Amino acid sequence: MVVMRGGYSRRLVQRLRQALIGLGSVRVKLLLPCFVLFMLVVVAGRAANFMGWRHKPLKQGSLPLGKGYTILINTWKRNDLLKQSVEHYSSCSGLHSIHIVWSEPDPPTDSLRGFLHHVLQLKSINGREVDLHFDINQEDSLNNRFKVIKDLETDAIFSIDDDVVFPCPTVEFAYSVWQSAPDTMVGFVPRMHWLDKTKEDEMYYAYGGWWSVWWMGTYSMVLSKAAFFHRKYLDMYTNQMPASIRDYVTRNRNCEDIAMSFLVANATGAPPIWVQGKIFEIGSTGISSLQGHSERRSQCVNRFVIEYGHMPLVESSVKAVDSRRRWFW
Ligand SMILES: *[C@@H]1O[C@H](CO)[C@@H](O)[C@H](O)[C@H]1NC(C)=O
Repeated sequence: MVVMRGGYSRRLVQRLRQALIGLGSVRVKLLLPCFVLFMLVVVAGRAANFMGWRHKPLKQGSLPLGKGYTILINTWKRNDLLKQSVEHYSSCSGLHSIHIVWSEPDPPTDSLRGFLHHVLQLKSINGREVDLHFDINQEDSLNNRFKVIKDLETDAIFSIDDDVVFPCPTVEFAYSVWQSAPDTMVGFVPRMHWLDKTKEDEMYYAYGGWWSVWWMGTYSMVLSKAAFFHRKYLDMYTNQMPASIRDYVTRNRNCEDIAMSFLVANATGAPPIWVQGKIFEIGSTGISSLQGHSERRSQCVNRFVIEYGHMPLVESSVKAVDSRRRWFW
């Protein structure tokens, strides 16, 4: 009996071996890891199901927790970009209304208004259409983008330039970050400042762009070209901030975003929050590509420090990341 069994299993092993040789050992070597990987994915999927681990959107329905946010678009003579921008954001579920800051000498044309309203009609969810307002300004000043909006219905403002576009999930994620820190500026474009040691005799601050942040990993501002903030800061910017700062911004046609960062930092004593996110630039001619940009920005920082009597900006190295979109911890 024992001998017979041994013979049987030996024959089985031999047959298996032949079958393997027949398949070709190279192919087995390739297929086996694939098979193991496949099984792992299947098992992991089952486990996720079993434990109730499902990716779900953070909020359901057309308007999420809170009342949603208002998008404040700053545009200037780039109607094609404005159309693209409105078309894109109108499908974001947390969006309550859109305000377009209009500072051109001519009012928006009927065809532009018609086009935008048509877009919003097409994208309306459950019959709820996003409100669209043009905020028309007589004079052309960068301070216009922070004017108080009378019929504003949300606390959250998402301030953007017309030439940057963020995917809706990215915007909604930043909104959820802002909801947990509504006094803070929450944005996608970090900038930093530091004390310039090369100028020994005076306290001179330098302004650092993207590369400085990338190198140092710290920041002290997020730019209003892509940031969430509370609507109360519009009132503070327009009515409480020293008029000399607004005059400086108007004269120099620059630095309204740095002024806003100073204002929020002075009010909270805390740094802003940088949110990681994909940025798509749809236009490429900004003032930041001009020569001497960094030097002019540094001058703004130093001017505002004099106005405040101290440096209000606070450094941080915190970066908010959507953990649903990370593979590794
Ligand atoms: C900075 O904040 C302080 C304290 O809240 C306030 O009294 C002061 O007016 C602010 N400074 C400016 C220039 O707004």
